[in-house]
Amino acid sequence: MNWKERIYCGDVTSSDRGKDILLLGWVDAIRDHGNVLFIHLRDIRGIVQVVFSSEKNKECYDIAASLREEFVVEVKGNVAIREQGTENPNIKTGNIEVNASYLKILSNSKTPPFRISEKAMVLGEDISGGPEHVDEDLRLQYRYLDLRRPSMQQLFIKRYEILKCIRAYLDEHNFYEIETPFLTRSTPEGARDYLVPSRVHQGKFYALPQSPQLFKQLLMMSGMDRYFQVARCFRDEDLRPNRQPEFTQIDIEASFIDEEFIYELIEELTCRMFAIGGIELPRPFPRMTYKKAIDKYGIDRPDLRFGMAVEDVTDLLADTQYSIFRQIIKKKGVIKGFCVKGMSELLSKNVLQNEYAMKIVQSFGAKGLTWMKVIDGCLQSNIVQFFCDDEQKALIDRFKAEDGDVIMMIADTSVELVNRVLCDLRLHVANRYNLIPKDIYCPVWITEFPLFELKDGAPNSQHHPFTMPDRTDFDPENIDELMSLNSRAYDLVMNGEELGGGSIRIHDMNIQQKIFKALGMSQMEAEARFGFFLKALEYGAPPHAGLALGIDRVVSMILNTASIRDVIAFPKNRKAFCPLTRAPNLADKSQLDELGIGSGIRGIRRFTGDGEIDSSGSQGKAAAKREKISMDEVKHVAKLARLSMSDEETEKYRNDLNSILDYVAALEDIDTTGIAPVSHVLEMKNVWRDDIPVERKNPLELLNNAPEREEAYYRVPKILEGN
Ligand code: AMO
Repeated sequence: MNWKERIYCGDVTSSDRGKDILLLGWVDAIRDHGNVLFIHLRDIRGIVQVVFSSEKNKECYDIAASLREEFVVEVKGNVAIREQGTENPNIKTGNIEVNASYLKILSNSKTPPFRISEKAMVLGEDISGGPEHVDEDLRLQYRYLDLRRPSMQQLFIKRYEILKCIRAYLDEHNFYEIETPFLTRSTPEGARDYLVPSRVHQGKFYALPQSPQLFKQLLMMSGMDRYFQVARCFRDEDLRPNRQPEFTQIDIEASFIDEEFIYELIEELTCRMFAIGGIELPRPFPRMTYKKAIDKYGIDRPDLRFGMAVEDVTDLLADTQYSIFRQIIKKKGVIKGFCVKGMSELLSKNVLQNEYAMKIVQSFGAKGLTWMKVIDGCLQSNIVQFFCDDEQKALIDRFKAEDGDVIMMIADTSVELVNRVLCDLRLHVANRYNLIPKDIYCPVWITEFPLFELKDGAPNSQHHPFTMPDRTDFDPENIDELMSLNSRAYDLVMNGEELGGGSIRIHDMNIQQKIFKALGMSQMEAEARFGFFLKALEYGAPPHAGLALGIDRVVSMILNTASIRDVIAFPKNRKAFCPLTRAPNLADKSQLDELGIGSGIRGIRRFTGDGEIDSSGSQGKAAAKREKISMDEVKHVAKLARLSMSDEETEKYRNDLNSILDYVAALEDIDTTGIAPVSHVLEMKNVWRDDIPVERKNPLELLNNAPEREEAYYRVPKILEGN
């Protein structure tokens, strides 16, 4: 291959005019004008137009006539300036073209399952309907094609630039990049571990790291002073758009420092990373205590891009005549709410009562919603008559409400529920009515987290058990005292997303042991799980602290992608499955036997000595093992689907569902060894309709039979909202 002479497609400029050049790349698009054929040739740096003329070079033209999209080719040609009026502003090289004198097809390509080309060859050409509209699993199955798209490639080039900037910055600040093991012991970060069975130590397992937490602390004890790592972490937890089972952290730790060092270091680093995306962040980042975040936004990762902060109005309504509120206050509950500025028209009585009060807040877990509008300086709502003038005036003052504003309030005996619902409601209203300004970034440090949270009545670390408490003279057996402790932890939050978190660590063995004791861990258990770490604390541990940034989340925010999956080259889908490699998958019986875990595992590939498949021993067991659906579960789904069902009907549904699921479970017992997996019976590709759409009818006519109609819409009950 003549790679030394190669010039990248995107690098050809008008200054190359008249030069003979060599290009290597993929056919992005083809336009055939009879005796002249144009192609867009694409490589990692861009696209250039290549012209094949049957008049000028018949041999070359004839080969070009067999080209299809995504063929890989070698082209030689001469650079020319395009004729006026034929320039293409869609591509960087749009003012030039290459007249081909040589063409070699290096690789053919099947028709891809979705379109890869993103650049129109001529002005006005419709190139919509790209992979964003294709099922994500199909994109992930053919990820190598998905990543061929220039817009995807740009994301990964930017990700690389951000990582380069991080390395350069930390190097400037005397941090050393050190790798820590993948095959290790459990690191408690609140998720389940991914376990790896050991062949050498049969019956024993390594755990993949949820984070390098213990190792980075050990590195501080080793005197490495300042460490960082672009660290892959593994967590078996429920997936969300911003979570992956394996993800990357910029993991940082430093000795002889305090919180201010971390704030300064990370703020500057964050500003530099965001600058790569052309985003300027305001410094210093504001700080907010955990308590304030919960009180004002109902969550410890508040979205500060918009107002609508929550106010507690319980004190104003202590003597109210409104019996629902009175009962709740009597039971030590709370009434809290927020004010939506100038929205009284869009938030009509109908929307507030029939949608928000009757449906939306209930789907968030609240029993109801109290709403009031401010009109001509007075409150208006369906229940305002229960509030005396003084109460109404006090509410208006507390919410700083003005004419045209809407107040939304939630009351409940559980303050946690009120906070949680108000957080969801605030985001729902803001998203629905576009109240969140675009292109704004609001970083905030959340500080003073409680050290422990109660789980089944026992203290549990809110972060991880190596976080320094704000006081060290506590009694590890006094739950009330433990629950009053704060941690010296900090989270970096931006636009409602947790980008990073860390803490000052415990460097004293006695305090660490007190924490383990508070967590209900016996000395023996602490010794068994973290003995190596406790021992290290006995040999002169420096005071140290650190933080980890979730780099997938950071990059996704900088590049404004819909999900972190877009900035991970080969992510898992929403079900923690890789449609490309089809991992996780069954293991060979011989492999499992070698690991000493062959027996008792369902769904293994089993080969007998002579190559025969033997699936004996597992048949029919799956259905028996499957947990049965309960009456409560059916009732719950019926409630979500707004179906009222008698006990008899519920039972019938339960039995039907159980028999369907038993049938599906029984399929798992079938040995499919050697059978190629199919998820679609037909070949998966886009099919374009070639019929002509009928003339559109008046949409209102189409809704003539709709049971419930609102203007040009047919109302359907909201059932579930997913991510
Ligand atoms: P923490 O658990 O808060 O702290 O993780 C740090 C950051 O990692 C990111 N993150 C994730 N990103 C994608 N998918 C996930 N499943 C996922 N889980 C976490 C988040 C989060 O803020 N050892 C401590 C750090 C320390 O104390 O130094 C730790 O791992 O952006």
